[in-house]
Amino acid sequence: MVRLTSLLAAAGIARAAVASSSTTAPAAPEIVPGAYIVEYEGDQDTNAFVKELGGEASLRKDLRFKLFKGASIQFKDTKNAEKLAAELADLPKVKNVFPVRRYPLPRHTIHSVGSTVANIAESLKKRDNGTDTFSTHLMTQVNKFHDAGITGQGIKIAVIDTGIDYRHPALGGCFGPGCLVSYGSDLVGDDFNGKNTPVPDPDPVDSCNGHGTHVAGIIAAQSNNPYGIIGAAQGVTLGAYRVFGCDGDVGNDVLIAAYLMAYEAGSDIITASIGGPSGWGEDPWAAVVSRIVEAGVPCVVSAGNDGATGIFYASTAANGKKVTAIASIDNTETPALLSNASYTVAGGPATAFGFTAGEPGEWPDVTLPLWTVNYNTSDPAHGCDPYPDDTPDLSDRIVLIRRGTCTFVQKITNAVAKGAKYVLFYNNVAGTVTVSGKVDGVEAVAMVTAKQGEEWVRAMEAGQEVVVTMTDPSKAGKFLTVFENTATPGYMSEFTSWGPTFEVDVKPQFGAPGGMILSTYPIHMGAYAVLSGTSMSCPMAAAIYALLMNVRGTKDPKTLENVLSATAKPNFFRSGGQTPEPPLLAPVVQQGAGILQAWDAAHATTLLSVSSLSFNDTEHFVPYHHFSVSNTGKSEVTYKLGNVGAATAYTFAEATDITPMKFPGEITADFASLAFEPAEFTLAPGQRKVIKVTATPPKGVDVDRLPVWSGYVTINGTDGSNLSLPYVGVSGSLKAHTVLDERKTYLSRGSDEDNTPILSNDVTFLLPPQGFANDTRYRNGTELPKLVATLSFGSPLVRVDVVPLSNCTSVKEKATLVFGDTLSLGQPEGLPSLWNPRGTVELKWDGRLADGTYAPAGKYKLVVRALRVFGNPDEKGDYDVTETVEFKVRYKKTEEEKKLRRLRRRAEKRRLREMLNRH
Ligand SMILES: *[C@@H]1O[C@H](CO)[C@@H](O)[C@H](O)[C@H]1NC(C)=O
Ligand SMILES: *[C@@H]1O[C@H](CO)[C@@H](O)[C@H](O)[C@H]1NC(C)=O
Ligand SMILES: *[C@@H]1O[C@H](CO)[C@@H](O)[C@H](O)[C@H]1NC(C)=O
Ligand SMILES: *[C@@H]1O[C@H](CO)[C@@H](O)[C@H](O)[C@H]1NC(C)=O
Ligand SMILES: *[C@@H]1O[C@H](CO)[C@@H](O)[C@H](O)[C@H]1NC(C)=O
Ligand SMILES: *[C@@H]1O[C@H](CO)[C@@H](O)[C@H](O)[C@H]1NC(C)=O
Ligand SMILES: *[C@@H]1O[C@H](CO)[C@@H](O)[C@H](O)[C@H]1NC(C)=O
Repeated sequence: MVRLTSLLAAAGIARAAVASSSTTAPAAPEIVPGAYIVEYEGDQDTNAFVKELGGEASLRKDLRFKLFKGASIQFKDTKNAEKLAAELADLPKVKNVFPVRRYPLPRHTIHSVGSTVANIAESLKKRDNGTDTFSTHLMTQVNKFHDAGITGQGIKIAVIDTGIDYRHPALGGCFGPGCLVSYGSDLVGDDFNGKNTPVPDPDPVDSCNGHGTHVAGIIAAQSNNPYGIIGAAQGVTLGAYRVFGCDGDVGNDVLIAAYLMAYEAGSDIITASIGGPSGWGEDPWAAVVSRIVEAGVPCVVSAGNDGATGIFYASTAANGKKVTAIASIDNTETPALLSNASYTVAGGPATAFGFTAGEPGEWPDVTLPLWTVNYNTSDPAHGCDPYPDDTPDLSDRIVLIRRGTCTFVQKITNAVAKGAKYVLFYNNVAGTVTVSGKVDGVEAVAMVTAKQGEEWVRAMEAGQEVVVTMTDPSKAGKFLTVFENTATPGYMSEFTSWGPTFEVDVKPQFGAPGGMILSTYPIHMGAYAVLSGTSMSCPMAAAIYALLMNVRGTKDPKTLENVLSATAKPNFFRSGGQTPEPPLLAPVVQQGAGILQAWDAAHATTLLSVSSLSFNDTEHFVPYHHFSVSNTGKSEVTYKLGNVGAATAYTFAEATDITPMKFPGEITADFASLAFEPAEFTLAPGQRKVIKVTATPPKGVDVDRLPVWSGYVTINGTDGSNLSLPYVGVSGSLKAHTVLDERKTYLSRGSDEDNTPILSNDVTFLLPPQGFANDTRYRNGTELPKLVATLSFGSPLVRVDVVPLSNCTSVKEKATLVFGDTLSLGQPEGLPSLWNPRGTVELKWDGRLADGTYAPAGKYKLVVRALRVFGNPDEKGDYDVTETVEFKVRYKKTEEEKKLRRLRRRAEKRRLREMLNRH
């Protein structure tokens, strides 16, 4: 917070540029125009505060809580909002002002969902017989608690999400005191989209999304369900804080309110599977979550699903200091809820089989024979080539194609070319996926398992006719099929986001199963579903905290995080189902401490005083840390410390690159060495020892490519304890690295969705009249200049100066010199922007400046400056700088101005005529 305040003072009020989803680079969370979170200095009456703003602002949310006193407000005049907000920040009664940003629900994958008309054959029902064999529980030792009757009794977990369908029998069937979902509320209403005004109501039901209901089931699903789903902490009570409407995003003011409400309701743990790219712990939402943790309530947040983007892509609020970021690990089993259909071979009896409907997936109840282009069930590129000329008309067949090599769309296109309307794929790996295959002419597609496909092909090869009766998936019965995950069991999910933060905070903290998770879903949406995401691993971690609270009798976030981290099990790196040879431990910035081992954590008697260590980068290198080891057991233990290196992950492919590599990047077997003082020692029961650990970064690494090294301090005790403490460091200087991608920072036209750069220096933009940028009457013929700016790395501060190029004295007089060499008229409205993640932002400029005035008609260029990581905002040399081409702006006249001009001209003519007449 201190850093933020000083930067705010240096930079004025922050507001991000308008982010675009059309760009390939990831986009930053968008801001809500004119909306701000105000933190009061001391306490105040919010109504009086808003009243004092003299009708310029309305109240979005009163945010007066024990840990945060303030409000979020919406300026009515968004045109002058920046100026008003800046004035607000100067008031002695205001401590901080933050823009309201919007965050999406993390992109999670929906693999399969159940049926509203589930008719589950008795034989397929899995019942909880008192022994927990749920795969995700076996992976994390949660089954041992279940078998011992420890279920999180008496612990309250708040779930901040899309609500919970508490009507679900496996989620208690009711809401309120005495129910499983016993507290919480809807902060927003169905129609909320992140931009409009939330309409709160007391009922937090998950009416239209499903995400929160899935999360809730992972924590606390009761065993009265047909698929054998067992919540990890069935004895807890849940609080449901609904912060998403049916569509769109959530503002951080709503999130902050939800956290503070959950805290004040006495929650013991708060979990949120929500986030957006950031990489900076200073973000206000992250800062509030940090405060709640400091006040004694553990907060777990999903680490994010942007693993594909590569290293240095931490997500907020998970990246907050003291906030526990949860990575995802793939399930050892691949459960799938398949739709029930049937087939016959050579006119024999009907046999049931399961399928996963694709897109399009509206299968009618059709009965048709199967056809396939060849009988090779190991053909890697089956159906990728156009079908032979002698292919029959396929309009009365269902075409069976093996998955692999080319796209589903290409395979379907080849079948459709011969008249096919229906396509069934069979998989080339375990399980099924949802085929996305919208091709003109195809009516429905689906996937069956490899085993089923091969069985049919063998029959056809033997000359037997296979006739398939498909069913409408919305009406079909659903059954659970569980495949063994042979590709990635227990390994990090490839989608799990990588840390560290740009300031080298260790992120994520640890992982739990989040890939291919079966849980509850709203009844009207199918009641059960298989989903993937860190959204699924996060609630598992929350449940494990509850189990630990039961056993250890403490709720202290630090104690619990430390022991969970120390006992978690690091795993090897894997990419594309392959482990490098020799195997290397996955980098700490991907897996944190590893997969949670809840039982070990609950019973550990050796405790560490920290959960991880950061040695920072070379420029800010921390040569040594101290941490303590305590023996809380009943017998004397001798400990031996060691160091096990994890894979070093390079940030850049080449020293000259500025954008980090995408997953899997480049990992190497370079390890730091650690020295311990002492390296071996004996502790009697109740004794504690302070250890000094000194790091020597790996030798021979290419520091210009910013290698991120990591590993584990191992603490092995003669009592059989095996603890590990993750550490991270960066070789090279973060500040030495370019953050602004000059080649991808340029001027374009507002209407150009392809963001084509303007190369000439003489384009003139006719802007809408000042203050009428959104008025459709002035759209025709006008065009806004659009600044496209790309950050290849995170930047704590981005500023853009509007530099006048005409010699008109009135403009020059208004301009000031910044950084000693840039004549600036000011910054476009919405800037500067603080705590920026990497990615591309677009800023359409209507001529308005941050102080609310407009740049006069004239010639300009924009100078873009992005502060480097660890840079000083007052130091010119710490910025990357680039400028756009020169361009002219003019403003269209308003109707009123035109009318006035016409009237004036007419009056002038009349005056002349009268003058002439007089003479
Ligand atoms: C419950 O079922 C599991 C798996 O089928 C079995 O291993 C276990 O022994 C059973 N437990 C009881 C108490 O019957
Ligand atoms: C699947 O369909 C068969 C008949 O085709 C039926 O006997 C069976 O009960 C169904 N199973 C489910 C789970 O709907
Ligand atoms: C790394 O050093 C910088 C500069 O002193 C500091 O701001 C940052 O917090 C440090 N990172 C960690 C994880 O301590
Ligand atoms: C401690 O145990 C771990 C795991 O068994 C092992 O990899 C490591 O080498 C051991 N450390 C020492 C110093 O013996
Ligand atoms: C004007 O339109 C832009 C883009 O459609 C939007 O982002 C902005 O919020 C609008 N401004 C106002 C004052 O409504
Ligand atoms: C836009 O302006 C052009 C001439 O500049 C005119 O031909 C056209 O009809 C106008 N379109 C609209 C929608 O007003
Ligand atoms: C403005 O004045 C400067 C020096 O006085 C001159 O170099 C420059 O060409 C002038 N620019 C224009 C657009 O007239």
